[in-house]
Amino acid sequence: MRAAIRTQYGGPEVLSVKEQNTPTPNKDEVLVQVHRTTVNRTDCGILRGQPFLIRFFSGLFKPSSSSPGTDFAGVIENVGNEVDRFKVGDRVFGLRDDGLASQREYMTFKASDAIEKIPEGISFNDAVASLEGAHYAYNFINKVKIDKGSQVLVNGGTGAIGSAAIQLLKNMGAQVTAVTDTDHIATVHALGPDKTVDYLKTDFTVDDIKYDFVFDAVGKSSFDPCKKLLKPNGVYISSELGPGAKNLYLPLVTKIKGGQRVIFPIPKDCKRSVKITTDLLSKGVFQPLIDTVYPMTSIQDAYTYVESGQKIGNVIIDYTST
Ligand SMILES: NC(=O)c1ccc[n+]([C@@H]2O[C@H](COP(=O)([O-])OP(=O)(O)OC[C@H]3O[C@@H](n4cnc5c(N)ncnc54)[C@H](OP(=O)(O)O)[C@@H]3O)[C@@H](O)[C@H]2O)c1
Repeated sequence: MRAAIRTQYGGPEVLSVKEQNTPTPNKDEVLVQVHRTTVNRTDCGILRGQPFLIRFFSGLFKPSSSSPGTDFAGVIENVGNEVDRFKVGDRVFGLRDDGLASQREYMTFKASDAIEKIPEGISFNDAVASLEGAHYAYNFINKVKIDKGSQVLVNGGTGAIGSAAIQLLKNMGAQVTAVTDTDHIATVHALGPDKTVDYLKTDFTVDDIKYDFVFDAVGKSSFDPCKKLLKPNGVYISSELGPGAKNLYLPLVTKIKGGQRVIFPIPKDCKRSVKITTDLLSKGVFQPLIDTVYPMTSIQDAYTYVESGQKIGNVIIDYTST
């Protein structure tokens, strides 16, 4: 089988596609023929080993896993003798945000982990693009209590996380304002927010609406300028550490002070996220945003594009095309 391989931390240039032996599943594992993975911002972080914090689970001095990859959609090729959840031929998808070495043609995965059957009628592209962004979006949302009519502003409506957050929030009955640039207003509007703001034409921190929650899904803002958007007990959540890694200590400071608060979301429970995604896809109420699909041979180009910070939604690798 072909696998994306790297032996050191670095940029897309450290990756190459090499022949490897196809793995054999243990008794509690399945063997998946990988049809698609995404290349996402978590993969880029794990590829470079940055921020350094990442190395505590991906290997301190060199990567502990030779292949990158955090998600997959594919078909079960073999099952261990203790596995009864799945059978050969099942279409499945799954996620592990600390890395599962899925960027290769075959991979093994524990059957009791974050893996589900792909709902009927959902393509491999849509299945794989529904995982990573929705997982982080869900881990923003589950840190607070969203009620019907809660006012929420999502900065970065075109990202994998932002585009998923808008849809999850609308499904929960929130009133959503999405911030994006001029070129993507129509794309973001199609995701269903109540209002869109073009950050190239307007300062999004100046708004008549007062928000219960500001979710900065691209981590381009900070708490101070967003305070004036928030209600007295409003909450600010960002996907990035922020200037001077402020978002790590502001949660404690603002909790002690009272009033407007900062929460830094530590994502956990991929299994729950994949179950929620499966449910939303089955009900037809979630449509992932897809940018480009690359063949495996162009995996370096895919990483370079994702690192540019300009992708729209999700970038996919197709392991079935040459
Ligand atoms: N905390 C965590 O555990 C965690 C996990 C995964 C990812 N992340 C972080 O989450 C962030 C988002 O990742 P992602 O994959 O969803 O998206 P992404 O690839 O970082 O975002 C791309 C989109 O953001 C838009 N954008 C860029 N600058 C913007 C700005 N100033 N205001 C509004 N939108 C802007 C870009 O479109 P335009 O420039 O055309 O508007 C582009 O469409 C990344 O910074 C990533 O490192 C954090």
